[in-house]
Amino acid sequence: MDLKEKLADLRQQGLEDIENSQDLKRINEIRVKMLGKKGNLTGVLRGMRDISAEERPKVGQFANKVRDELTAAIEERHAALEQAALNEKLKAETIDVTLPGSPVAQGQPHVIQQIIDQVVDLFVSMGYEVAVGDEVEQEVYNFEKLNLPKDHPARDMQDTFYVTPSVLMRTQTSPMQARMLEKHDFAKGPLKMISPGKVYRRDTDDATHSHQFNQIEGMVVGKHITMADLKGTLKVVARSLFGDKLDVRLRPSYFPFTEPSVEADITCFNCMGKGCAICKHTGWIEVLGAGMVHPNVLKMSGVDPEEYGGFAFGLGPDRFAMLKYGVDDIRNFYQNDVRFLNQFDEKG
Ligand code: DAH
Repeated sequence: MDLKEKLADLRQQGLEDIENSQDLKRINEIRVKMLGKKGNLTGVLRGMRDISAEERPKVGQFANKVRDELTAAIEERHAALEQAALNEKLKAETIDVTLPGSPVAQGQPHVIQQIIDQVVDLFVSMGYEVAVGDEVEQEVYNFEKLNLPKDHPARDMQDTFYVTPSVLMRTQTSPMQARMLEKHDFAKGPLKMISPGKVYRRDTDDATHSHQFNQIEGMVVGKHITMADLKGTLKVVARSLFGDKLDVRLRPSYFPFTEPSVEADITCFNCMGKGCAICKHTGWIEVLGAGMVHPNVLKMSGVDPEEYGGFAFGLGPDRFAMLKYGVDDIRNFYQNDVRFLNQFDEKG
């Protein structure tokens, strides 16, 4: 076989191998085997020394042609295989955006927060300002300025956690009455405030008591404010939370910071006043404490009781939630069992 035939063979074999190669690894092997320094073409060309000077340029030309053809064929096949590999990868990694996603569980405000939000929204709609106080409070604001001097027997009911001898976890949201009275500029009009928040007592936890619970304090102080305003306001709250046709009644009571003081009852929303287990057959449910702000409280906060007066009330959203949803153990609210809490999904 002369050199030209060998080259033709090499070309034939090479093109076949290139054609049959199925992956990039194989085509690279072929490139090395055919065109590399120690490859077949170089091997054949070594035979050039032995041919005549006359033949050499022709064979040389042919050899160049074979090399160019093989190089072009390898490049073309390489590009095709690369594209195929890419297509394969794209296919394997395709994301079907039409598949349903994995649902993310969505929570909702805690049931007590829902009640707080409802009450606060209602008062904001009536022009009250929202005042959020601190859970750690000075004793003077928690007691003294609310007409509960040291050794007042009513302090016993609100025994609590002291941080220092004169600083404590507040037992009620009422300290915000004194704080807001001190701050308010009465020349600009009456003070109308609502103050939701957590309070603390040294209560032993049971079905109806918790050492930490919530209160919402309300107060209006201005000129010519009467108990009728208090009753009307409470009626609006009761009706918005428990139902349109409910009535409110006031019973005499005692709080050191109000005079006169009352407990407010609402018509039992379960039996509408006929008497049932929920209202202990009285037709009424006790919902909050209230009264006309005591002159001493006004005086201690620098407000003249001869000129200004008003009402205050304190309600318990935890108790409201228990009543509204028939929950018989307050501890359910604080144990954070989602099966319990999910029942009060305001989204329905
Ligand atoms: N602070 C009282 C308590 O914790 C509740 C209360 C009663 C607040 C009468 C008031 C009020 O503002 O007028 O028992």
